[in-house]
Amino acid sequence: MSTFASSPVDPSVARIAVPPAALRRITAVTSGKGGVGKTFVTANLAAALARLGRRVLVLDADLGLANIDVVLNLFPKITLHDVFTGRSSLADAILPAPGGFSVLLAGSGMVEYSRMTPEIREQLQRVVAEVAPKYDHVLLDTGAGISDVVLYTISLAGEVLVVATPEPTSLTDAYATIKVLATTQTRRPIRLVVNQVRKPGEGRTVRAQLQAVVDRYVNPGLSEPVRLDLLGEVPSDPSVRDAVQRRQLVLETMPGSAASMAMLAVAGKLRA
Ligand SMILES: Nc1ncnc2c1ncn2[C@@H]1O[C@H](COP(=O)(O)OP(=O)(O)OP(=O)(O)O)[C@@H](O)[C@H]1O
Ligand SMILES: [Mg+2]
Repeated sequence: MSTFASSPVDPSVARIAVPPAALRRITAVTSGKGGVGKTFVTANLAAALARLGRRVLVLDADLGLANIDVVLNLFPKITLHDVFTGRSSLADAILPAPGGFSVLLAGSGMVEYSRMTPEIREQLQRVVAEVAPKYDHVLLDTGAGISDVVLYTISLAGEVLVVATPEPTSLTDAYATIKVLATTQTRRPIRLVVNQVRKPGEGRTVRAQLQAVVDRYVNPGLSEPVRLDLLGEVPSDPSVRDAVQRRQLVLETMPGSAASMAMLAVAGKLRA
């Protein structure tokens, strides 16, 4: 791993706290653009990995505008906010989720988490360092954008999973995220899930488009080029909207749907 110029929030603290073996198990799910399917991918990937016999923890890192609880139909009494403020132990905040994995929920409408402070940084790092050795996979569902909160959360992970759709706006924001990560943070594998594809093979096209822009504008300045690894494509599938509407995982309620099959394939590749 090579290190680039330090990011606005120094990730080196986390590097010390999380042992390298555990760091590899932490995946940050991010996208740049909002609403492209980060939470859908995180929750269903967790359920798919659990089906493969893995111990999985999802941490809702969208700290101020959390909504994985909504997708999982959980009504959290204890959240990360309670852990951060010392009102709850970490063990009490880890809840079982319907897909056979564990989840650490965050609160919603909490403006204090809209920007990173040293306290939040320290607490988040402590929690991630503590849970990482106990699970095979820890998935961090980040918020949209490239705020310092999102970038710091990503800095805690050993690999980054970028979710993009074929929409030009999503591609632009995915590219911006990849560029910021490549130029300001420690190098880690960047993997791609192309969500809401309209025809088979669109994921490969999207990867090639993103890779071409990265090759042209980012890689020339780097000692080691960024290579995007396509984990899979997920079709635009009405079953996903139905499942979200019913506050259930599509993998649980419609395991044979195209989206579920695609998520199982993604999980198989992530594990490999
Ligand atoms: N493959 C898909 N097929 C059909 N609809 C989808 C698919 N993926 C996501 N959606 C729809 O997009 C909505 C937004 O997805 P999701 O909440 O996962 O996005 P997000 O990136 O986490 O958003 P935010 O940036 O707000 O956190 C879902 O509620 C669902 O209705
Ligand atoms: Mg989300």
